[in-house]
Amino acid sequence: MSDNILREDEVLKIDNLSMHFGGLKAVDQLSFTIRKNEIFGLIGPNGAGKTTVFNCITQFYKPTAGNVVFRNNKDDVQSLIGVKVHDVIRKGLVRTFQNVELIPELSLIDNVMIGAHIEFKAGLVSQFLKLPNARREERAIREKAEKSLAFMGIADLKDQQAGGQPYGVRKKVEIARTLMCDPKLIILDEPAAGLNDTETMQLAENIRRIRDEYDCTILLVEHDMRLVMSICDRICAISFGKFLALGTPAEIQANAQVQEAYLGEKEAEAEKDMEAKEPAKSVVEQFKDNLLGKEQ
Ligand SMILES: Nc1ncnc2c1ncn2[C@@H]1O[C@H](COP(=O)(O)OP(=O)(O)OP(=O)(O)O)[C@@H](O)[C@H]1O
Ligand SMILES: [Mg+2]
Repeated sequence: MSDNILREDEVLKIDNLSMHFGGLKAVDQLSFTIRKNEIFGLIGPNGAGKTTVFNCITQFYKPTAGNVVFRNNKDDVQSLIGVKVHDVIRKGLVRTFQNVELIPELSLIDNVMIGAHIEFKAGLVSQFLKLPNARREERAIREKAEKSLAFMGIADLKDQQAGGQPYGVRKKVEIARTLMCDPKLIILDEPAAGLNDTETMQLAENIRRIRDEYDCTILLVEHDMRLVMSICDRICAISFGKFLALGTPAEIQANAQVQEAYLGEKEAEAEKDMEAKEPAKSVVEQFKDNLLGKEQ
């Protein structure tokens, strides 16, 4: 395994990371380093291995090989390999999911408060008996959750049930939940999927505000190329689990291998869409529009 060292301006390093499912190399010897306070994008065609990279970083999956080194919210640098998922969260590495994961029967604020349950120090018995220390702690967590919801602009909805809320609201709740754990690195898996243009612009603004006000770093996977290209400081492109390119948005847009990877996908999609009368604008088309600097 590689060294567990980060430069002072770095927050996460993945080093020769691989994740194999049987014969499938979903992630194949991938390496990159993310700097403090960066908005870092991870892009690649469908099935490229982006979510698997996230699952390996957060230890949802045990990587087949390689290392993940993280600077935690106490400013200590350590390998995350073998660390339990809830301990990873406690160290300030939090995520949202590609499919929004909320408990529909609970209110929005309760869903956000769940994000802090790992911080709950009062024992189960005190919580059950509602002893003063447990009540005090719950009040503090509730206040923090209200602040997180307010930050995402949905404080007025806090007592409504999560189930039945529009998709855009549920996504905001999921992001609000990440703010509960003293985040150092927030990982967002397709935060703009299913959002309309206005919501996507709002999201871009919120991601920047979170980075600035919570003094943290953002790693995001996103197919909406306008969002990626407009907010990311640097981007890593992957294809079939392998590293393709890393650079600024302009460098990535100009990269021949990246274009090729997306064009390959375009051909496959075109075949699939042959029958469709008016296929929705694909990721690739959006990407190409961006490459050509076309307004949408
Ligand atoms: N738990 C699993 N078991 C077996 N194969 C898996 C598992 N998770 C992912 N894969 C496979 O690994 C590959 C990468 O999947 P992954 O979900 O990481 O891609 P992705 O880049 O996130 O794609 P998308 O853009 O569609 O979300 C795919 O071929 C997928 O089928
Ligand atoms: Mg994915």
